[in-house]
Amino acid sequence: MSDFRNSTVYQIYVKSFCDSNGDGIGDLNGIRSKLPYLKNLGVDYVWLTPFFRSPMNDNGYDVADYYSVNPMFGTMDDADAMIREANELGLGLMFDMVFNHTSTEHEWFKKALAGDPTYMDYYIWKDPVNRDADGHILTPTDSDRDSDRAATGSANTASGLDTNVSESAKTASNLEMSTGSTSSAQPSDQIPAPAPNASPEEIRAFAASHVPTNWVSKFGGSAWEYVPAFNKYYLHLFDKTQADLNWENPRVREELKNVIRFWKAKGLKGFRFDVVNLISKPAVFEDDFEGDGRRFYTDGRHVHEFLRELAEDTGIADMMTVGEMSSTSLANCIRYANPASHELKMVFSFHHLKVDYKNGQKWELMAPDFRKLRELFTEWQEGMEKGGAWNAVFWNNHDQPRANSRFGDVTHYWKESSKMLATLIHLMRGTPYIYEGEEIGMTNAGFTSIDQYRDVESINYYRILTNEGKSPEEALHIIGERSRDNGRTPMQWTAGRYAGFMPDDAKHEPWIGIPDNKDHINVAVESHDSASILSYYKKLIRLRKEYEIIADGSIRFTDPENENIISYVRELGGRKLHVFCNLRGAEEPLLANAGGFDATGMQRLIDSIEDETCAGRSDGTAGNDGADAASGAKDSTDAVLLTKLRPYEAVALLEEN
Ligand code: GLC
Ligand code: CA
Repeated sequence: MSDFRNSTVYQIYVKSFCDSNGDGIGDLNGIRSKLPYLKNLGVDYVWLTPFFRSPMNDNGYDVADYYSVNPMFGTMDDADAMIREANELGLGLMFDMVFNHTSTEHEWFKKALAGDPTYMDYYIWKDPVNRDADGHILTPTDSDRDSDRAATGSANTASGLDTNVSESAKTASNLEMSTGSTSSAQPSDQIPAPAPNASPEEIRAFAASHVPTNWVSKFGGSAWEYVPAFNKYYLHLFDKTQADLNWENPRVREELKNVIRFWKAKGLKGFRFDVVNLISKPAVFEDDFEGDGRRFYTDGRHVHEFLRELAEDTGIADMMTVGEMSSTSLANCIRYANPASHELKMVFSFHHLKVDYKNGQKWELMAPDFRKLRELFTEWQEGMEKGGAWNAVFWNNHDQPRANSRFGDVTHYWKESSKMLATLIHLMRGTPYIYEGEEIGMTNAGFTSIDQYRDVESINYYRILTNEGKSPEEALHIIGERSRDNGRTPMQWTAGRYAGFMPDDAKHEPWIGIPDNKDHINVAVESHDSASILSYYKKLIRLRKEYEIIADGSIRFTDPENENIISYVRELGGRKLHVFCNLRGAEEPLLANAGGFDATGMQRLIDSIEDETCAGRSDGTAGNDGADAASGAKDSTDAVLLTKLRPYEAVALLEEN
């Protein structure tokens, strides 16, 4: 069995992990100083978010040069030393490859803007189309267009466009570019550009009313940015400074392979691929009358070919690779992460992190739907197993609010709910990912003013929500729950002035605020507490290595009607591991119809509530202190019925046969 099945991956958000020089920004030398901590935690791989040269509009996910280190994070020498030191400790580093798009400050894009046809073809350009006042297309003009498509549609897209009108066109007119004409083919019926002496407002209005499709950017507003000098738009599924690459162009694919070869040669052990299921765009670009356009470019027509080619041509097929899959499907993920397709080792999917989105909308709040959560876990865990594919399992990353704040209760049951959530994921079938700070139970940021936010998405949506008529308080409340900045506050190492993220006597402030709860939620306190969340994570990581059944067992979800407890059974070679997780802050009955769960003779492998030693528990299941794993089960002969779980309790019982 490949080694990553019993491995655990740790994700570092470079900007927020550890600042070695007191400028308020985490850096590579800070990471180097914490490698022993990660070794001690027990993780095998460490994924670093992008630290390459970048204007940082999306905190490094807007790469301007894949071959250099952003000076704010350090130097290439620092990177080399970091890779060497990690390898010496047996920690495999994984770097983040942002290949769906580049920054508009990337050399390639600059050359494209200068009119170089070779580089224009690195990106995706479309001509303006005529639309009526409601945004409906009047005449098909782009040669790519499907002439059969009727220009009918709903009005809901118009408002989506409206929100971005001013912002989008403002930058279009701000872009500095040559006025030289492009050599790409201009259809004879092309809509003329605004006159050369048009005012910025006129250009803005033209840009807004002639967008090639009504697609909405993931960060709000139109997905198209107008470039007056070309009378064309380029596609940006994310920020307007993140231009989508044209993967249909083999030169682009070669360029990206070279990036992988370069970093691989430096001794990396794996790669994470950013939004990699969005790379293959459709042959025909058309308006989406059902959604924001994602159905046309998600898991696109050539994505599997492209991934296989990338893996084979760069020799990363045997390395640790994980693809971030946006709004994907199970069928596609089975292909991405099935060894037979030679694409990726595993995938991140996000459906389980939308169970608190009202009507599927991120910016509409709702209490988590745990029934839905169970259904999704069941579908994906069992489905991936049936399809012979491997999961990455996770709650948190740099794009998510903290899971304990979201699905647990950090006010009354901070420790219990954080541990329960960890158990639910870590004992599943898949490689667990821990996001920095999760292992100590870090919570949402608790910001109270929009000025405290840094993320482009949060700031855009604050504006969009208030434009839509929400009061500033309401908008702030929504952002407070949903902002990606909740996961981006500095790592809490100590209770010190700057939480040990940067030196106490630093001359600068951290780039983003530090939650007050650093005083009790920090590595220093938790390292010395055997009942801490940190100690619990260490145990989960260790158990995966010690018990093959956790790494390799099959999985089946049980008790499907239960609204409060999610449970599953892992099975391997006649052994079973029964996992029960109480998602509620109340005592919940277990298998009430059957009078409880018969745990006779079973060994309690782990319990998230450690207020009593597992061995000799009142319910009679035998405990495991890590040392003498199997013995407890054999000794205990009395009948044991587990009838309830305490609030947020998670328990795993091993049944030998
Ligand atoms: C991924 C990253 C996210 C970034 C986006 C665009 O979702 O995780 O942080 O903003 O891609 O690159
Ligand atoms: Ca620094």
